[in-house]
Amino acid sequence: MAHQSVYIARTLTETAMATLDRSDHELRIGSEAPPSREELLSQSRGAAGVVVTLSERIDAEFFDAAGPNLKIVANVAVGFDNIDVNEAKRRGVIVTNTPGVLDEATADHTFAMILNLCRRVSEADHFVRSGTPWVWGPRMLVGLDISAGATLGIIGFGRIGKAVARRAEAFNMRVIAFEAQRTPGDVDGTVSFVGFEDILTQSDVISLHLPLLPSTRHIIDAAVLARMKPTAYLINAARGGVVDEAALIAALNSGTIRGAAIDTFENEPFVNPALLDTDNLLLTPHIASAGDRTRDRMCLLALKNVDEVLAGREPVTQVVLR
Ligand code: 8YV
Repeated sequence: MAHQSVYIARTLTETAMATLDRSDHELRIGSEAPPSREELLSQSRGAAGVVVTLSERIDAEFFDAAGPNLKIVANVAVGFDNIDVNEAKRRGVIVTNTPGVLDEATADHTFAMILNLCRRVSEADHFVRSGTPWVWGPRMLVGLDISAGATLGIIGFGRIGKAVARRAEAFNMRVIAFEAQRTPGDVDGTVSFVGFEDILTQSDVISLHLPLLPSTRHIIDAAVLARMKPTAYLINAARGGVVDEAALIAALNSGTIRGAAIDTFENEPFVNPALLDTDNLLLTPHIASAGDRTRDRMCLLALKNVDEVLAGREPVTQVVLR
């Protein structure tokens, strides 16, 4: 069979790149930085497969540019809000993502943010580095006692939410969860499902683990933030768009909630400068899945999906819209 052309929009991990030496495809490979829009469209022209990340917007214009040879768009991410999956379906193009391989790494980072924020680790680091004179004091940099039975509320109890719950249990937290598919009163091990209102009013820490969909956009807005405990913390390692960022900034500045940690931004990679001036806010640049082995597994899974589809087989992890 003639070589089929595959465009890989970003340099993948070293391990994944090494496998490309044995590839049967004719490869076009981008660089570490995201391609410009023009580059994405021109490099995809005539490709049978493309491998992209969340920085690449895959929409009708993209499909027009890629042309009728395109069989698969493989996203190196579990989230696929950068891809118009309905448009892909209309054109008979398969979309794949990378579920399952990044749950533990994402939960690790989420928990790192919870501990850091609640026990003020980064704040303490900045304090020491600032050279401010200090002596030990009973009130200095006191934070939330996570292991004294603080309540963690998980919104979105899929694979990642569950992995976060396992860590929280080991830290002696009480864990409650809100999941649209589950009835309040249901339990999963030691996790109790509650209604949306209860998760807001009972949680000391709320962690978001739901996809960005039209129905989840700004699920955390000013009104929701106002119903949280004034002592509560919000953690977002899901997608920036699930939180109304302007409302979060206002809530932190007015003391509506005590603090927040966010790994994802509403208009990524743009970071609203007001976030940088907001205290009690921990920021990381969308690195929740950035474990070395995890990133290899994500990249290898995306490449495997391309290989399978181009060989006429089923992909391993196709995105299927319900
Ligand atoms: C990725 C993520 O790093 O998988 C996801 O949905 O958010 C992260 O794991 C990112 O999306 C890279 O494209």
